[in-house]
Amino acid sequence: MILINKNAIVTGGSRGIGKAIALELAANGANVIINYSSNKEMADKAVEEIKAFGVKAMAIQCDISNSDSVNKMIGLVEEEFEAIDILVNNAGITKDNLLMKMKEEEWQQVMDVNLKGTFLMTKAVIRNMIRQKQGKIINISSVVGVTGNIGQTNYSASKAGVIGFTKSLAKEVSGKGIMVNAIAPGFIETDMTEVLREDIKEKILNNIPLKKFGKPKDVANLVVFLSSDKSNYITGQVIHIDGGMAI
Ligand code: NAI
Repeated sequence: MILINKNAIVTGGSRGIGKAIALELAANGANVIINYSSNKEMADKAVEEIKAFGVKAMAIQCDISNSDSVNKMIGLVEEEFEAIDILVNNAGITKDNLLMKMKEEEWQQVMDVNLKGTFLMTKAVIRNMIRQKQGKIINISSVVGVTGNIGQTNYSASKAGVIGFTKSLAKEVSGKGIMVNAIAPGFIETDMTEVLREDIKEKILNNIPLKKFGKPKDVANLVVFLSSDKSNYITGQVIHIDGGMAI
């Protein structure tokens, strides 16, 4: 139980990688707050599963791309839990298209959720962490934020932006006992990747040295490590978890 009595926020924690992260943090003793954009039922179910580990849990409706919504959520979290020890900026979206065909809305929506959402959530919790002189911020980037990918100029730019954000913030707050790291997952089996065509999945698999796709739990295990005291000398890093895809 390396996270006992820690309070963690996981954005997009009701499904996919975020849910696996929420459950693994809870399994290690942390209280977990998740947000959801529209599906309350799914979020409530996730809260029940988190509580089964004997920790506190809460789901709050919040659009991370909207500052009023984010500030309201963090206000509620502070009322209920006071300290915020861990923030996992996991929520993200894709709107894939070739640049020639990409609509301005497709560019903007992806930037607003993936990059601005990370900024808004982090800004909303940072004072709390500075007051406590400790904190762990983990930003979920992507392998394509490092390598790029056809049809994902918007998504890759947002995830590369998350890496620059991570490194800059790590430098800003290292003197306050706060560590900020990014994780760059490769292909992880979730709803986000489920929609890809079989032939595309096959092509991706051929480029993975470990010859298998990742599971949400693989990412969750790394988040637990980065949330714990076991990683106290690591900050400003981008840790790849991709079966060797980006070697
Ligand atoms: P998912 O689509 O299953 O889940 C995304 C979550 O984000 C959902 O819970 C959704 O409600 C939430 N969300 C979306 N827009 C939101 C908004 N405006 N406000 C609040 N919440 C919002 O995706 P998945 O696969 O679990 O991905 C999680 C993270 O991991 C994302 O940031 C994604 O970009 C990243 N990632 C995923 C990879 C994969 O292979 N699945 C690979 C690399 C990175």
